[in-house]
Amino acid sequence: MRVACRLAGEVLDFITPYLRPGVTTGKLNDLCHDYMVNVQGCVPAPLDYAPPGYKPYPKSICASVNHQVCHGVPGERALKSGDIVNLDITVIKDGFHGDSSRMFYVGEPGIQARRLVEATYECMWRGIRQVRAGARLGDVGAAIQQHAEQQGFSVVREFCGHGIGRKFHEEPQVLHYGRAGTGLTLEAGMIFTIEPMINAGKAAIRELADGWTIVTKDHSLSAQWEHTVLVTQGGYEVLTQSAGSPPPPSF
Ligand code: MF3
Ligand code: CO
Ligand code: CO
Repeated sequence: MRVACRLAGEVLDFITPYLRPGVTTGKLNDLCHDYMVNVQGCVPAPLDYAPPGYKPYPKSICASVNHQVCHGVPGERALKSGDIVNLDITVIKDGFHGDSSRMFYVGEPGIQARRLVEATYECMWRGIRQVRAGARLGDVGAAIQQHAEQQGFSVVREFCGHGIGRKFHEEPQVLHYGRAGTGLTLEAGMIFTIEPMINAGKAAIRELADGWTIVTKDHSLSAQWEHTVLVTQGGYEVLTQSAGSPPPPSF
């Protein structure tokens, strides 16, 4: 898991310089695909992934732009200055999954976009910092929800973090909202993702006709960051950190 997760982070490091005005999300997909397959010797987990009720996902990464919340399907859309983009990378290495996503600014972001992206990053880290053996999953959700709502933003309810290992999505579900002191008690050795989706407007979402792309109902901006995290006795180990990961925020 340590190897797979570091490799997921390294795909994000690799693709970072390509997030410039004019590049299409399809081109970013193709670059990441080739890097995962030919450089890392990995399998891109999203490609042909078909959970119950979904048709097979057609691409190797997710690219969600502006009001797209998650699972944006890469295509001919060219990025332009001011866009905010989430790239979500999941690799399979020797049968193990590593899952991580980051936000990117294309050119110069607007003030609200920057506030949302930074607040969402802090939400993820506030969640991560709750993790230790003996803590409850509700502690993670509550920390995230509290910070998001205190900033005037809202937490998407329909998608959550997840256990991960030999399977892409396993138990437990890691909600990004909730009440401290409730929910599953964490044990050392558990591995799951924390991946809050935070909207600048209302929390409601809608699925596009492609059967995958999720957007905000009110077309407000949405941001997401994701790490895969190991529970340890005294705390946590963030497995998807790599050389290019932005540092944790200072609280
Ligand atoms: N990587 C996403 C997650 O964090 C899942 C994407 S599923 C896909 O759970 F099929 F859209 F790739
Ligand atoms: Co995930
Ligand atoms: Co992901």
